[in-house]
Amino acid sequence: MKKFVKVTALLMALCMVLALGACAGKKTEEPAEKKTLTMATNAEFKPFEYLEGEEIVGADIDMAKAIAEKLGCELEITNIDFDAALTGASTGKYDMAVAGITANDERRLSMGFSEDYYTASQAIIVVKDSEIQGKDGLEGKTIACQEGTTGEQFLIDGNYKTQSFKTAPEAVSALTTGKVDAVVVDDAVARALSKEQEGATVVLDEPLTQEAYAIATKLGNDEFLTKINDALKALKADGTLKKIFEKYELPFDAE
Ligand code: ARG
Repeated sequence: MKKFVKVTALLMALCMVLALGACAGKKTEEPAEKKTLTMATNAEFKPFEYLEGEEIVGADIDMAKAIAEKLGCELEITNIDFDAALTGASTGKYDMAVAGITANDERRLSMGFSEDYYTASQAIIVVKDSEIQGKDGLEGKTIACQEGTTGEQFLIDGNYKTQSFKTAPEAVSALTTGKVDAVVVDDAVARALSKEQEGATVVLDEPLTQEAYAIATKLGNDEFLTKINDALKALKADGTLKKIFEKYELPFDAE
């Protein structure tokens, strides 16, 4: 009898391992526990990820939770600097980074990306009545951005006078206190941050880039990416993703 119990327990453990193989995360000693999907983000990027009190909320967070649920995993979110989130995903310290991350060729050299889930562009925020009315007006001005982002890359590539901040809200503070002349940041975030200034700042209409967000993971993590992509596909197909984006007043354009 004892032996039978042991064998059954072993079989059960094996089944758990097989069933939960989708979560590339921590190997828990306790096979009866749900496996953990670890995720890094930078919760200073409203409406994709931001803090509401102690809680990390946002469209990316809801999406990641829905993916974890599909994979039968517990989601463990770590809030860190944006560049650390990217490095953490590329080194495999975290299973994935979900942080409004633009999938581009340069990053593809050092990390793996899921399918796109959101289309974005860089946008300019200026104070109301600024003489800057578009990209041309940036010449010779001091422009703030978030460190390690595609916005920063755009400014560096264009040889603009750039001031990088740890977070996008800090870049906007530099604008409202007159320390810089404009901010370049992802469009939806620009709108959300500008809205908080209650008319003191405006977002210019001109999109500076064309980008798409994807989930980042370690390079060569193809089995994991297939599972993430399957989950994403299912969430697109059953309308969950659309609902999540609508909740945060984001246009949903995934196919
Ligand atoms: N889309 C931009 C990039 O990938 C900015 C992302 C910043 N995200 C954040 N959670 N702070 O570089």
